[in-house]
Amino acid sequence: MVTHTMTNRTILTETHGRVGLIRLNRPAQLNALNDELMDALGAALLAFDGNADVGAILVTGSDKAFAAGADIAVMADWTYMDVYQGGFITRNWETIRQVRKPVIAAVAGYAMGGGCELALACDIIVAAESAKFALPEIKLAMLPGAGGTQRLPRAVGKAKAMDMCLSARVLSAQEADRYGLVSRVVPDAELQNTALKLATQIAGYSLPALMAIKESVNRAHESSLSEGILFERRELHARFASSDAHEGMQAFLGKRQPVFQHR
Ligand code: CAA
Repeated sequence: MVTHTMTNRTILTETHGRVGLIRLNRPAQLNALNDELMDALGAALLAFDGNADVGAILVTGSDKAFAAGADIAVMADWTYMDVYQGGFITRNWETIRQVRKPVIAAVAGYAMGGGCELALACDIIVAAESAKFALPEIKLAMLPGAGGTQRLPRAVGKAKAMDMCLSARVLSAQEADRYGLVSRVVPDAELQNTALKLATQIAGYSLPALMAIKESVNRAHESSLSEGILFERRELHARFASSDAHEGMQAFLGKRQPVFQHR
């Protein structure tokens, strides 16, 4: 069942079972990311994150563009003081970092600049064959400043990241798959279905286990190996305080499907 829960000019939201879907919706600007859109996206992400009936969040765009980057028309007149005092990027783009549930990006067409960086801030990227990933800020004498210079090398390594950031090279979906930037590539006609099926599968698992896994994987980028392993071990031990973990193991032994209470 599809329920429309929120609509405004820049994003559309729906729920599909336990999946919260957010569609970026500035088609005339190829979903260029302005403050209004990023405020709405942040609010929608936090609303789904706080909704006990949602287990995973899907972020997508149109057939032509996931997002073509920060809105250049808006940025063109800004001064240093505007962005410094206004906390550009930090103020609303980073809301996604607060989200504890899995976030999946379904990307068709352009994922450029801030659009590529938004996809990189998601946990899983499912790409259509038409997807094109680039950090072309250098062409504007700008810099990929929404996490691009930090998340891209962690995803694809220094060599590919430097090439993309310094030359504005555009990666096809297949290249992005080969380099480890995306999780899987599907034909365009199957993107929405595949991403929704994946999100539905994930959302059907125990929510506290999903949250612990997401937090643990993210720790891999934030800590030494031994600190990360220690964090992981504590999260594993904490699973034994979860009734869902006992249900999952009992269901396996009883050769039946588990019924999770997300506890
Ligand atoms: N900001 C504002 N408007 C944008 C935009 C953007 N990032 N990207 C596209 N648009 C607008 C275009 O201006 C155009 O508007 P009009 O019809 O009013 O002229 C409309 O969207 C359609 O775009 P095009 O005609 O250019 O479409 P195309 O199919 O010929 O080209 C494209 C598509 C290659 C993505 C091209 O639009 C493009 O290069 N866009 C800019 C990409 C870019 O530089 N992104 C980085 C932005 S900076 C950034 O993101 C900083 C950061 O790290 C936070």
